[in-house]
Formats: sequence, structure tokens, C-alpha cells
Amino acid sequence: MRPKRPLFKVERGEGNEYVLEDGTCVYDAAGGAAVSCIGRADKRVEKAMVKQFRKGISYLPSLSFYAQVSVDLANWLVDSTDGKMAQVMFYGSGSNGIDAAQKLARQYHKRAKLNPEEDRIFFIARDRSYHGATLDALDLSGHKARRAYYEPMLAKNMRTVPPCYPYRERLDNETDAAYVQRLKQALVDMIETLGPTKVAGFIVEPVVGAALGCVAAVDGYLAAMREVCDKYDILLIFDEIMCGLGRTGYMHAWQKSGVVPDIQLIGKGLAGGFAEISGMLVGHKVAKAFKGSGEAFAHGHTFQNHPLACAMALATLKIIDEDRLLENVRQKGPILARKLRERLGSHPYVGDIRGEGLFWAIEFVMDKLTKTPFESKLNIADEIHRMGLTKQYAVWVYPGSGTVDGTDGDHIILAPAFNITEEEVDIIVERTATLIEDYFKGLDESMPSNS
Ligand SMILES: Cc1ncc(COP(=O)(O)O)c(C=O)c1O
Repeated sequence: MRPKRPLFKVERGEGNEYVLEDGTCVYDAAGGAAVSCIGRADKRVEKAMVKQFRKGISYLPSLSFYAQVSVDLANWLVDSTDGKMAQVMFYGSGSNGIDAAQKLARQYHKRAKLNPEEDRIFFIARDRSYHGATLDALDLSGHKARRAYYEPMLAKNMRTVPPCYPYRERLDNETDAAYVQRLKQALVDMIETLGPTKVAGFIVEPVVGAALGCVAAVDGYLAAMREVCDKYDILLIFDEIMCGLGRTGYMHAWQKSGVVPDIQLIGKGLAGGFAEISGMLVGHKVAKAFKGSGEAFAHGHTFQNHPLACAMALATLKIIDEDRLLENVRQKGPILARKLRERLGSHPYVGDIRGEGLFWAIEFVMDKLTKTPFESKLNIADEIHRMGLTKQYAVWVYPGSGTVDGTDGDHIILAPAFNITEEEVDIIVERTATLIEDYFKGLDESMPSNS
């Protein structure tokens, strides 16, 4: 199968860099896809992996067995929520976790809760959201372009409401409170349209990652969504696959607001990129219902709760703790933001620089005032990303498109490792800013009106 673009061969990883075949050291300013959060070769992860491997318990058939390390990891995560979440299950990809969440919500309503309901088969997601690549996870995603090829094959039990996207969608002079009220009403209207007993769950990324580019919800938004879900007995599902596990400066992005979900998905950075592992955290209401009804969750994967992956995940999380990396995220995040704004804030094609913690995006526009995006055929974000990989810039930035309406709109994401130093912040800002300035200079020169 041909990749979208030619790939570069990586010889090795060093610190937060990819060393390419020709010796170019590409600084990873986005942790890949917001995955690598503690560098590439931490000895403590290696030790934990080897220890688990040597026990001869890398894989276990979960039908009959469990390993202590999976329990330890689950307990660590539950503790990290201050006991606000009750249970955790581990899967492979983030998409696997999203599929599991849909099935759990369905089973909760149909079988586990006290007054079971058969008809709750719909989910509500947000427009332009991305929750994964499997057909079910894609069906839950509101990203038009990513759905397009597969539309006829999708189950279509998802409806969308607008995201919380103040840069583009808060009206002039609209307060946060009024904006939240409008979004709350949109959710209520959608629930009422589908039927108040038809919706199983509402899924939200507390800080939207790849789909919109590091868009944090405005104050009061998550609480308002929680209120609506409670009123209609709908499960509130937080997708923290990209924004969770320290990325925003909180172990869980929802902790900033204090709004607790019923189901939470984590992935990407869970094992720092050393292993493929995602997790589904289950809140007390759902866990109690399953316990009370004696229901077992009717869902399983061959590699779920994989002990070797769990060992690497636990080692990664302990490193975040031991090395006080959340503090570093909170300290370096604002420095990164300030320096990006100083350098790029007045660039004519930079519309917005936004984010939290070490999770920042730069959205590009053709016109700062009207916020008109570039034509999608120009592939602005992708082109910038590709140019970044050349020797001259040597920086990996994560591109995203469809930011405005699922087709048009471009941004890049910066999501560096949690252990970055101030010198590395400077490297990121210098290389990324030069890349953007040079790219648009070239674009201007290539435009017919300017030639
Ligand atoms: C918010 C979000 N949810 C789910 C996924 C799917 O995760 P995976 O690619 O590991 O299946 C992604 C991947 O980019 C994501 O960003």
C-alpha cells in the first residue's frame, strides 16, 4: 500500500529527536501525534519491561487470568482521579477504547441500570470531532473529511452538535456564559429531536486535539454539558486520548474544571509511545450498575489488559510523577505560548495561537480579520509539516486540516515531551517560526498576483 507521502527512514531516537538515515536530527515538537511524552529511551521503562518479560507474563488470555501489573496500573489511574473514577480496562489503540465505550454505554442502559431501556442507541458527538479510525469510532466522529470515503458503511447512530470553539464560533460581544447557554440549548434540542429516551451517550474532548487544534472549552461549558446529560440520563463520555495524562498540565484534562465524566478514554501517551495501549476509565454510577445487576461487560479483545504494555505504561506514569513532569508542563507551557505569540502573533497568516499546558496549536488564515481559511487544495498544514522535515528546519510538527468546516482550515499542533527544557522551548519556537515564515514567504512568491 502506498503511503500518502514518501516516508523518511529513522535510524534511531535520541532524547526528543528522530535521527534520520542521512544524519538529520529532527526535533519532535509534537511527541509524534502527542504520544512521546518522556523521550525515547528511558532506562526505567526498559527495566520495567524487561522485568515483566522475564516473568514470562507478557501476554495472558484474559478469559482466565490477570497479572498484578495490570491491577497496579488500574489502581494508579483510579488514584490519580482522587477516586472519582472507579474502574479501568486496557485495550490497544484509542479507537478500540472508543468502540468499547459505545458498547459499555449501550449495555449500561439496556441491561445494567435499575430501569433498563432498550431504545438508547444514539450517541451525540460534536461537529468536526475525531474519535478514531475503526468504523464505529469513525461513526462517532463528526469530521466530515475523515468520514467521507466510508459514509455509506457507517452505522449512523450518531448526531452532532456544535463544538465549543470560541475563536470562530463565539459571536461578537457574546459572553462565555451566553455562549455556553447557546451550546447547552443545542444539545438539549438535539436530544429532544432524537427523543429524550433515545440517547445513550454524549462524547466530548475536553480540549479538542487533532480535529480543531488544541481548543479548550470555555469556563462553564463542561459543567453545562454534565447538567444536560444528568437531566436526560445520558452518559457523559470524555475522550482524553490526546489531551489526557498530563498534556494540559493536569493528569486528567477534566480535573481543571472538576467535571467528572461517566466514561473516560485515554491512550496515546499512556505508555509514552513505548507500547500500544489505551484505557477506558469507568465512573462510579456505571460501575455500580454493573455490580448491582451482576452483569459482566460483554466485550473483549485478545490483547486487552496486556501485561507487558501495562508494565511500560505504569513505568511511564511513575516517571511523570517522580520527575515532577506535570510541574514542568505547567511551567514550560506558558513560556512556549508566550514565545510563540511574541514571534508569530503578528504574522499575517497566523489567525490564532491557542492551547493549554504543552498542547498548543497555530491556526492559519488567509485574512486575519475575516478569518478566511486557505483553499483546502493548498494543503497548507501538510505542506508546512513536510517542509519541517527537511534539514534546514528539522522539526516535526503535527498537521491538521478541516479546522473550519471539516474540509477547509489548517492548523499545526505542538505537543512536546513533558520533560523539555527552556533551551528546547527555544529550539521549537525558533525552528517552527522560521518554518512558518519561510513557507508563507514562498507561498506569497508563488501566487500569480505577486509574481
Ligand atoms: C481524540 C482522539 N480520539 C481517538 C483517537 C484514536 O486513537 P488511535 O489512533 O490510537 O486509534 C485519536 C487519534 O488521533 C484522537 O486524537
